[in-house]
Amino acid sequence: MIPPAVPAALHPLVAAFLADRDGVRTALRHYGSPLHLVFPQVFTDNLTALGSALDTAAVRHRICYAHKVNRSATFARTAAHAGIAVDVASAGELRAALSAGFRADRIEVTGPKGTALLRAALAAAVTVNVDNLWELATMAELARPDPPAPVLLRVSGFAGSSPSRFGIDLAEVTTALELLVRHRDRLRLLGFAFHLDTAATTERINAVGDCLELIERAYGHGLAPTVLDIGGGLRQVFAADATGYDAYDHALRAGLLGRGPAMHWGNNTFGYHLAEGRVHGGPVFHKYANTEPAAATLAELLAAPLSGHGGRALGTVLTDNLLDLWLEPGKALVDHAGITVAQVEFVKQAGNGATLVHLDLSRDTVTAADQEVLIDPIVLADNVDTRPAGVYFAGHLCLERDLITQRQVRVAQLPSPGDPVVFANTAAYHMDLSATQAGMHPVPAKVAVLHRDGQFVLCHDADYRPGQR
Ligand SMILES: Cc1ncc(COP(=O)(O)O)c(C=O)c1O
Repeated sequence: MIPPAVPAALHPLVAAFLADRDGVRTALRHYGSPLHLVFPQVFTDNLTALGSALDTAAVRHRICYAHKVNRSATFARTAAHAGIAVDVASAGELRAALSAGFRADRIEVTGPKGTALLRAALAAAVTVNVDNLWELATMAELARPDPPAPVLLRVSGFAGSSPSRFGIDLAEVTTALELLVRHRDRLRLLGFAFHLDTAATTERINAVGDCLELIERAYGHGLAPTVLDIGGGLRQVFAADATGYDAYDHALRAGLLGRGPAMHWGNNTFGYHLAEGRVHGGPVFHKYANTEPAAATLAELLAAPLSGHGGRALGTVLTDNLLDLWLEPGKALVDHAGITVAQVEFVKQAGNGATLVHLDLSRDTVTAADQEVLIDPIVLADNVDTRPAGVYFAGHLCLERDLITQRQVRVAQLPSPGDPVVFANTAAYHMDLSATQAGMHPVPAKVAVLHRDGQFVLCHDADYRPGQR
């Protein structure tokens, strides 16, 4: 049996670029293979969609692009040019943000920080989103008055949320507030922040409710916070529709139980647990099932009723209390804004009967944190003989584990050496999070693709300047 197809959702601009076969082949010829391509115009479209959800709810807001999602200078410059803010999580990202053109008052530093990063943040006069009491005490020691350093307190420990290694536990917030009061000449509390890696509006609204209470408590201490920062976590849409994902998942589970052909390589169960003739639990690739665009989730959140506030919508409560909503979207801003292209080196049959399509890149280059990707790579084959087949894509490292897909993938026809293979939607964490230089293979080039005057124009990621022709 040939596996069900799980087609990737593509932005129309990316679809048009792929439809123009010469586009991909020209890019490969100029920049080599494999290659990461980023589409700043898609980034801008995502930003517009989030911005209009916020404008519709009429909330005062600040969008901070979470730089960690991708090292791309193109995305950082596009964000700076659009006038939004940025969330940086290392000294390297802070330098990148400054050189991308963000002013200090548009930069916040998040994540866990050591003394060196705290010093760098203070020297650059950016906002520090404080992770813990040690950071806050160190800031109080290092900061100088006139003006006091702007800080947000990241909190965690909300009822119903999974435990987090980040943030100040709700039970410790009083200590933090007392410290802020003692050092009010050096530290200025802007507000409270959290980050939840969940799609669930109920969980987020619960955290918002707790933070609004903290804002009131801070006022009780004579402080005047005005910001509620809800972090990132808005989801991406990977699959073209839910049908392909569901059909594949069904076939995969049947194969795991031996009630259908195996879709899995070796003993991989993708997080599923098999017991008593049944498949239990959830798969590691569950995020690929989402079909709700980030802007819709955000609109739902802004309209969600807050129980402690007479059931008024979150957006209304923020506006009525003159509060600013800050967001730190990473993956939602780069959704569909990047692809990775590799080339087929050869096709072979393995001893277990599987067909292996060997590519010139490794699993790490296109996979986030080693989680199986549940959308199909796109083969741009020259071969016109369209006979669908089920294949595994294999990487170029000399390691058994370097199978790019540990699941069988449907392809429209078997590719030949040199054919390009496209991995869709790799801009968020897939491209950069775990790419290694194992085997002394070079890191793929990163190139910006622009659509101008009806044509696609390419330039090195580092050379891209928004607004310049
Ligand atoms: C503090 C913080 N903000 C924002 C983000 C970006 O999250 P996402 O890409 O899910 O929007 C992260 C991701 O880890 C984070 O840790």
